[in-house]
Amino acid sequence: MVKLAGQYALVTGGGSGLGAAIALALAEHGADVLITGRQTGPLDDLAAENDRISSQVADVTDGAAMAEVFAALDADERAPDIVVANAGAADSEPFSKTESALWDAMLAVNLTGVFNTFRPAVAPMVRRKSGRLIAIASTAGLKGYPYVTAYCAAKHGVIGLVRSLALELSRSSITVNAVCPGFSDTPLLDRSIETIMEKTGKTREAAIESLAVSNPLGRLIEPREVADAVLWLAGAETGAITGQAISVSGGET
Ligand SMILES: NC(=O)c1ccc[n+]([C@@H]2O[C@H](COP(=O)([O-])OP(=O)(O)OC[C@H]3O[C@@H](n4cnc5c(N)ncnc54)[C@H](OP(=O)(O)O)[C@@H]3O)[C@@H](O)[C@H]2O)c1
Repeated sequence: MVKLAGQYALVTGGGSGLGAAIALALAEHGADVLITGRQTGPLDDLAAENDRISSQVADVTDGAAMAEVFAALDADERAPDIVVANAGAADSEPFSKTESALWDAMLAVNLTGVFNTFRPAVAPMVRRKSGRLIAIASTAGLKGYPYVTAYCAAKHGVIGLVRSLALELSRSSITVNAVCPGFSDTPLLDRSIETIMEKTGKTREAAIESLAVSNPLGRLIEPREVADAVLWLAGAETGAITGQAISVSGGET
């Protein structure tokens, strides 16, 4: 069992989907967890489920806002030991219809958001010579998918960031890894399923099947399965695992 008592964790996009499952798993294993996101409702609802979870509104695309969150935690001697850069979005368009606004938005939340989250987390970790930086990338960081060039480019960028930062921080006993889920049962995927139904006329079941078929297990990944990979990486026994992109996809990648 992973023991995280006395540790502080921060999970971006912690109010729903994978982030909520990760926050609950960390809290159940004894960590005090701060979840962030843009909307108070889902954050407050999750915080109400577990006394170890607290919440704060912060947009990962706003570097100054993220720096303020970390500075306040550090001043309060609660600088996170475990940081999970999970916030993301997956808007889709054919490449020829991808406007620069969509391109910029996908890079801002999925790639720059990870930079804005890790950047202020590093100094206190270097000071303490320990820490766990974990990015929720995607199988879209390891292979291509049609109609999501901006999302795929951003997620490939996250894996580059992780591999490079892992080398830079290796002598500080800080590990940096990416978890790469395949299609997972979350609100983000619900929105993708609705888009497929709208654009192809498929039923909901057929739209889900069209995504699940890419997973050799023939099903969607459960949020808890992603959370378990994060828990493992957050634990003390994974000090030699760094710079990795760990696929949680039933063998898709
Ligand atoms: N579901 C999948 O199939 C799948 C597969 C591979 C990877 N992923 C990745 O897993 C991560 C979590 O996705 P999910 O499936 O759990 O989706 P989700 O339920 O839509 O969760 C995304 C979270 O990110 C937050 N968020 C979005 N933009 C933000 C911003 N600018 N600043 C701060 N928070 C922001 C959202 O909260 P607010 O709206 O309140 O800000 C929400 O809580 C994403 O990085 C996604 O790319 C998902």
